[in-house]
Amino acid sequence: MSSTDFPPLKNDLILRACRGESIERVPIWIMRQAGRYLPEYKTISSQHSFFEVCRTPSLACEVTLQPVRRFDLDAAIIFSDILVIPQALGMQVDMVANEGPCFPQPLKVPDDITKQIDRTRKASVELKYVYEAITLTRRTLDGQCPLIGFSGAPWTLMSYMIEGKASATMSKAKRWLYSYEKESHDLLNLLANFVIDHLVEQIAAGAQLVQLFESHCSCLTPDLFNRFSFTYLCQIAKGVREELSKRQLPSVPFIVFAKDAHYGLQDLAATGLFDVISLDWTITSTCIQSLRNENSKIVLQGNLDPCALYSSKENLEKFVREMLQVFGTKKYIANLGHGIYPDMSTDNVKWFIDAVHEISKEMNDSNEEKA
Ligand code: CP3
Repeated sequence: MSSTDFPPLKNDLILRACRGESIERVPIWIMRQAGRYLPEYKTISSQHSFFEVCRTPSLACEVTLQPVRRFDLDAAIIFSDILVIPQALGMQVDMVANEGPCFPQPLKVPDDITKQIDRTRKASVELKYVYEAITLTRRTLDGQCPLIGFSGAPWTLMSYMIEGKASATMSKAKRWLYSYEKESHDLLNLLANFVIDHLVEQIAAGAQLVQLFESHCSCLTPDLFNRFSFTYLCQIAKGVREELSKRQLPSVPFIVFAKDAHYGLQDLAATGLFDVISLDWTITSTCIQSLRNENSKIVLQGNLDPCALYSSKENLEKFVREMLQVFGTKKYIANLGHGIYPDMSTDNVKWFIDAVHEISKEMNDSNEEKA
């Protein structure tokens, strides 16, 4: 079997939703579905460090499959992290228990870029383990559902590389945007080109959709977003398409998640560069309607407040019903508005997934009767 021969797909709901086709029920996957809320993940992470799991294709494959075995999900997402990119470029990143990612030597001044980043590094070499994990996982999934690849977007990566850890204000990273504008663009451009290669390699290895995570928009102004995020999101979407066509690889649906960029969503939709726009839970139904009007082809993803998973099953069902009424059942992928938290109940996760399937099917059946 060559690396591009994969088992036939048994569930292509999410791909059909991306093409705007009529589907029997709304597809669903959950951001951070492979992770610490699963006891079987905790078992693996008690035996191996986080980056060891990322770097070992058989372990990354196992963790990717865990949620898909347990729940009726319509997509799997490869187990990895956005911060494998700064690592691949030469920076040290540690995953500190109960704290999250930590860079012992973050970038302080622009001169640190040359000192700490090796521009000669290639994604195809440094991140080969991700691509091997994708090929192995796609085979092991045996067509159960499509596999999603992903990357962090340049501004989110740059802000981690400067802040060194999570930050409420991002003031160190924002200082760069205001005081070292040229050097910030140089770094963002370098990251954007690396992200293009990383996404193309994931698609070449078997990823059937890709998602770009721009998680740190809450601290940007609309103007900063335009100049330092939007530009690079577009550069990546264009660059990936061009590279795929050069390499004669098939195009796959491109999902962009610009969390908290409510001020930039209309512009993102209007570019026509993204197949799917993923929304956080702050987005109003009016905004959702105008996104649909702005670009009739656009597919929307989201956006249940993850904390809604703390509610009773009865209320959760009500929230799902409301969400489906706002988004409709076409050109829509159900998800949370951000990643699931470690203390969430697997029981409620199952209830959420099944409710999306059942209620959307009910809605489709009753629409057919009316027609
Ligand atoms: O979605 C999935 O299940 C696939 C795997 C995945 C992880 N991280 C695994 C992970 C994905 C898609 C990510 C993306 C990611 N990583 C983002 C973008 C999405 C978002 O949440 O905004 C960001 C900002 C990161 C950086 C990162 N990695 C943080 C902030 C943390 C610690 C806090 C947290 O949310 O878990 C991580 C660690 C991490 N990445 C864990 C997992 C399962 C937990 C590690 C552990 O303690 O075992």
